[in-house]
Amino acid sequence: MKELILEMEKYAKDHNVPIMQNEGIAFLMRFIKANNIKNILEIGSAIGYSAILMASSDVDVKVTTIERDENYYMECLKNVKKCDFDKKVSVVFQDALEVNLSDENKYDMIFIDAAKGQYIKFFEKFKYFLAPNGVIVTDNLKFHGYVGKSDEIESKNLRQLVKKIENYIEFLNNNQEFTTKIYDVGDGISISVRKNGNT
Ligand SMILES: C[S@@+](CC[C@H](N)C(=O)[O-])C[C@H]1O[C@@H](n2cnc3c(N)ncnc32)[C@H](O)[C@@H]1O
Repeated sequence: MKELILEMEKYAKDHNVPIMQNEGIAFLMRFIKANNIKNILEIGSAIGYSAILMASSDVDVKVTTIERDENYYMECLKNVKKCDFDKKVSVVFQDALEVNLSDENKYDMIFIDAAKGQYIKFFEKFKYFLAPNGVIVTDNLKFHGYVGKSDEIESKNLRQLVKKIENYIEFLNNNQEFTTKIYDVGDGISISVRKNGNT
């Protein structure tokens, strides 16, 4: 397992695949264990790095992960097989905004780590699939230190992307339904809990 993880880290570096930072994934793994989280939905699998590590947090943790890029999806499947996690990690090849999940599927944690500009849409779509005390987690809220400084960014594309993350943070802070804490770990992680929840 350790070998596969190192192999995935090297693959990600060599092929420019954006995966979670070590500090961020270690934080999530501790959070999953401490809060007895069992059923996770991940939006944005890439090569399966965070899905496999989250699934390894505890014996009975299961992860469903959605990926729209075919090459990443294939690579993710390969990695899930390599560590014999076929029963712990299910990989769905589809655009998350087009996925139809059954209303019966409820998750203790929904981890949003896909297109940064669509975070509000993902949040609004998937909140209906949260278990009563479930949490919605998002990565990259610091976006490599650019968040909060969008007006100083020269590149238009980058500025627009960072502005979208800033809007998402505002959306979280003003949300009537969820309370959010933003943690300064890895690239910035938010954890949102329903206002009537206990987690
Ligand atoms: C930051 S990477 C995910 C990294 C992964 N969670 C990890 O840490 O190992 C984001 C991934 O989301 C995928 N993605 C972006 N928008 C998506 C969408 N609408 N539906 C499904 N996947 C999406 C991208 O193809 C990319 O592989």
